[in-house]
Amino acid sequence: MHLGWYLAAPIGEFRTGLNALQIEGRRLVVLRRENGVEVYDADCPHRGANLANGVLRGKAIVCAFHARTIALGERAQGLCVRQYRTLVAGDLLFVRDPAGIDGGFEAQMSALSESHTFLPIPARTMTAPARLVIENAFDSSHFQPVHHLVNAVRFSEFKRDAGYAAGGTFVVPASPWQRGARDTALPFVATAYSPSIVISELGGARPYTTITAARDTPDGALVRIVLALAKETAGDRDVPYLLRQLDTAIDADEEIWREVREIEHPAYFADDAAVLGFRTFADEFRPTPP
Ligand code: FES
Ligand SMILES: [Fe+2]
Repeated sequence: MHLGWYLAAPIGEFRTGLNALQIEGRRLVVLRRENGVEVYDADCPHRGANLANGVLRGKAIVCAFHARTIALGERAQGLCVRQYRTLVAGDLLFVRDPAGIDGGFEAQMSALSESHTFLPIPARTMTAPARLVIENAFDSSHFQPVHHLVNAVRFSEFKRDAGYAAGGTFVVPASPWQRGARDTALPFVATAYSPSIVISELGGARPYTTITAARDTPDGALVRIVLALAKETAGDRDVPYLLRQLDTAIDADEEIWREVREIEHPAYFADDAAVLGFRTFADEFRPTPP
């Protein structure tokens, strides 16, 4: 688990009480209460049982293994587990290491959830490392061949107060069903707030935003995509069409990702700059070994 934010899941996926959650090797316990949610380390400090299997008693969990009482949150004395930072935006639960890096994400997500409606697509597990899924948003030279854009896309990096941002112009082909229609140029910006979360904004007359989150599991990358539409116009949008488009796009990516290998000496070109920029940004979230 790195030091940045992760999307755990839509909050509705957790039942009231204790829930197990695993994020890249870190076992966590999600405590959903009537009026909120808390996340703690799940390894019992006695001898390592999973506290998600215990019983909640006030501000503690009675461990299922030896029935010791484990306090929730750091305490000066006695057995206890660390609390994680949480953020609920829309109905999405985000989690990060308490000593980690916010990177401007809380403010950004709070603002986005005020102005936008979130429509999560069902989670998918993909045969690809999570990093490839997130850095894809910055991979300018894949958009034309994989997603059939008209133009060879070039990205510039954007200076932002927070996160890592890059973008350019997508020229989308005219629909073959619309006579006389022209190709359309749309501004695109991707901003990563952690190695596991990127927010992509496609502008133009019908703008939309997607939040893409990915984390590694033993079965591959667990990928969650959330469509975010401005509240005032969300009612007028063809949501099934947009969701289908996102699905088609990720299918096209996955077909490639499945067979991408890390090679020893990649030959980078100028238009790989945003991918490399994202990787440098992501490296800052690596926890320093104790
Ligand atoms: S492992 Fe939890 S009480 Fe022993
Ligand atoms: Fe892609």
